[in-house]
Amino acid sequence: MHVAVVLSEYPDGVDVSRELGLDIVSIHEKEFPDGELYVRILEPEKIKSRNTLIFTTLYPRQERALLKTLLAVDAARRAGAISITAIIPYLAYARQDKAFLPGEPISGSLVVNMLRSSGVDSLVTVDVHSLRVLESFENKSLNIMISDILVTHALKYLVKPVVIAPDQGALSRACYAAEIHKLTCDYLVKQRDKVTGEVSYTPREIDISGRDVVIVDDIISTGGTVAEATRILLSKGARRVVVAATHGLLIGEAARKLEEAGVYRVLLANTLSVKHAHPLIEYVDISHRIASELRRFLGL
Ligand code: R5P
Repeated sequence: MHVAVVLSEYPDGVDVSRELGLDIVSIHEKEFPDGELYVRILEPEKIKSRNTLIFTTLYPRQERALLKTLLAVDAARRAGAISITAIIPYLAYARQDKAFLPGEPISGSLVVNMLRSSGVDSLVTVDVHSLRVLESFENKSLNIMISDILVTHALKYLVKPVVIAPDQGALSRACYAAEIHKLTCDYLVKQRDKVTGEVSYTPREIDISGRDVVIVDDIISTGGTVAEATRILLSKGARRVVVAATHGLLIGEAARKLEEAGVYRVLLANTLSVKHAHPLIEYVDISHRIASELRRFLGL
């Protein structure tokens, strides 16, 4: 028997839990006057001897969200859960999946190890930036790919588009969606300055003149990657560029940057509680995909 606990960071976890027919156990969350966090599972007896799914996501305010998740996991374990699965669509810090410069930590692995040592038995993410950070969970992790769903929506605006990865790291995600939709996929060659974070592209022959394009990426943060990729594609003669990105952090002026670069539409998955109201942006509900993948993974 499985039950669900849904943290306020990821309210769409309620839809996933309902689709799976899970009992949702209420949780009380608050902040003390000094800023420390508190959670309490109400009716802990509903968790005793049950497999417990904890739904959360680690943006915005990543550190708070992570700490709250750890507290909820500890509470569930103490309440007698027989197993704990954390469903964390956006896994913060996963971009630091290695030490890029001497002296750096491997933040992504550290975050995952903290989850594991707090009592998480299985970890479920959506389009995690790097699978490498999930390694300590071995076969008890599941990364759900959803770029095909975003591309389905992009096809409302595009005719037989080429799927483009804005860097080689995004290639498998882009080609996965391309294959499902029987489209071709290609990539751009991006460099990011390891100190300033600035993005630049190396010229590469790519045949997109007169073609529609869908750029597939995992994260839009400052918008620098996708804006620059769009400029390049339009300068090479692309007719229309739609962006399909899983996690829309969209920091500061990111949406304006995309607009100025000439992006036609931005499709984002509902992996975060923050939603940006902007005429370019459209959210795509992926709750059904998460529910069906969880059903398979957990044998529900
Ligand atoms: C990096 O490799 C990621 O896949 C994204 O392309 C990146 O995080 C996007 O960041 P920004 O929007 O700041 O360029």
